[in-house]
Amino acid sequence: MAFPQEFLDRIRSMVPIADVVGRKVRLTKRGREHTGLCPFHNEKTPSFTVSEDKGFYHCFGCGAHGDVISFVVEQEGLSFPEAVEKLAAEAGLEVPKATPQERQREERRSSLYDVVEEACRWYEQQLAGKDGQAARDYLAGRGIDAETREAFRLGYAPGQRGALRQAMHARGIRDDQLVAAGLIKQPEDGGAPRDYLFDRVIFPITDRRGHVIAFGGRTMGEAKAKYLNSPESELFHKGRVLYNLARARRAARDTGELIVTEGYMDVIALAQAGFPAAVAPLGTAITEDQIAELWRLADEPVVCLDGDSAGRRAGYRLIDRALPQLKPGFSLRFALLPQGEDPDSLVSTQGPQAFRKIVDSGRPLAELLWMKQVEGRPLDTPERRAGLRQALMDDVKRIEQPDVAQAYKQDMLQRFDQAFGFQRSKGRNQRGGKGGGRWAPQGRERNLSPALGVRQPISQLQHRQEQALIATLVNHPATLLENAEELAEIALAYRDTDILRRRLLDLALERQELDTVEICSHLRQVPDGTQLETALSREVYRLWPFADPGASVQDARQGLRHLLNLYRDRSAKDEAVEEGRRLAESMNQESLARLEAKRKAAYENDSRAVDLDLDRDNGPWPGPDGSS
Ligand code: UTP
Ligand code: MN
Repeated sequence: MAFPQEFLDRIRSMVPIADVVGRKVRLTKRGREHTGLCPFHNEKTPSFTVSEDKGFYHCFGCGAHGDVISFVVEQEGLSFPEAVEKLAAEAGLEVPKATPQERQREERRSSLYDVVEEACRWYEQQLAGKDGQAARDYLAGRGIDAETREAFRLGYAPGQRGALRQAMHARGIRDDQLVAAGLIKQPEDGGAPRDYLFDRVIFPITDRRGHVIAFGGRTMGEAKAKYLNSPESELFHKGRVLYNLARARRAARDTGELIVTEGYMDVIALAQAGFPAAVAPLGTAITEDQIAELWRLADEPVVCLDGDSAGRRAGYRLIDRALPQLKPGFSLRFALLPQGEDPDSLVSTQGPQAFRKIVDSGRPLAELLWMKQVEGRPLDTPERRAGLRQALMDDVKRIEQPDVAQAYKQDMLQRFDQAFGFQRSKGRNQRGGKGGGRWAPQGRERNLSPALGVRQPISQLQHRQEQALIATLVNHPATLLENAEELAEIALAYRDTDILRRRLLDLALERQELDTVEICSHLRQVPDGTQLETALSREVYRLWPFADPGASVQDARQGLRHLLNLYRDRSAKDEAVEEGRRLAESMNQESLARLEAKRKAAYENDSRAVDLDLDRDNGPWPGPDGSS
């Protein structure tokens, strides 16, 4: 229900903000302002101020800011209308009457809340009772303790389809209410309405305030659908709600951290393992509304993705959705889980520290955006690389906020330049314009090959890329055997990776068959073999997932092709540059002297034209004596 603006302003001017804040925070008066310890973050010295005149509070420590209504919303966990009603009552103001239709809807909604709450209690009782033994065992088997079970208000819907309906009837709740709440459904053939969920473990879904609005149910056996959610209702809109939102909200406010997972069990297992600020969508892809909701809880929620390609693709789809909404200071980070693991299985098999590490190493959205465009795209020709650049710029254009769009443009262009070894503008023609003018490559100059000894710092990314190449060969020995010849023709820019390349090549030429363990033990014996560890790292796998031992051979093959193409292309370019440089250099020295001599001679003999083309160095030049 929308309140008239004047009414809200009356509340703001009539309810002294210092009184309302003063109930939660010990305030000290300083002139016209009050100060105290901020209730929105942990602090030891006061940086929280309340201004009576301006009618707002502001924290210089954490930036929390708002008026009397938002304070009640934030601190008491009330919805906006609830906060308004509460403050209006305090001020003795009458809340403007809603239209009859609005009133009716409100009433129906509030009675629906009661219906759903009743059902939730009943499901909880069933789990605790004798029919709930199997469900309790199931949950225990999944490592959920009683405390967590109660905190999440887990329940059980018994097998007799109709038990809920009957129990609700006994409480005076009618079928039409049960249908509206999504608890029973009217069969199409017209028979008696039936419970929507039966013989399932029940996961209550709440709104932001913690009111139950719907349920998820998990089968303990082999039912067709592993999870079933209540149908959409007046209270429940799947795409707007996040599981565990109400509880995660408080936790996220304390820590600033928010974790986004895929499922109910992930959220619950994480809470039990000490990560209370976790939410999940309800079996659908994350929507725009849900992204906006996440940003109300934290600046950079960390999204957990499965380590396989399906997980990454889900991440890419989320990026597509998030791009238009990005705003300064708000983003998403992406944590890739080991293949085949979800947060639930990871904390239960490897413990909270392992999960902490994964969350902390979450990658920025920009990096995933880059990966999304690079992955699976051959980049072996200028046209294809230009295509990549265009695709990146197209993505950037979808960001609506201009400052963020600008920052992304810079970031993507920098990644692009780094990936292909370009250096932007500076460093061009280092040797002075003189002899180089004609021969030095025009425009952007790429890094010269190490052979020339004038290497500029090559990007970190390129080193990583070389490590990915090594990792792929080691983790997927078939690709090593298949590509031995090509491997012989390229040179890697980094010493450590190039040594590993040569050793791998030796092995490939000696053997008919190879396995990863054997390769590793060989490589570890060579000088610089310790560098193998940095190549076989999660960091590398994250950027080039096909290098991961868990990737399929097909992915590894395809990925390796792209890397090799890049290098083949690069070394061809190196050769051209080197050739140019050699010519330019030789011109600087002897041929320049010769040229000078020839030119002098030409002037002495000024009836002749002078051809300065170096290619015809040995052409019919006039000799010093003027003879031909
Ligand atoms: P997952 O299949 O990843 O299951 O579904 P999970 O969360 O790991 O579940 P457990 O560990 O086997 O119990 C992720 C989410 O997708 C929705 C649910 O919301 C689930 O939590 N889902 C899944 C459905 O809605 N229906 C299904 O049949 C399966
Ligand atoms: Mn799971």
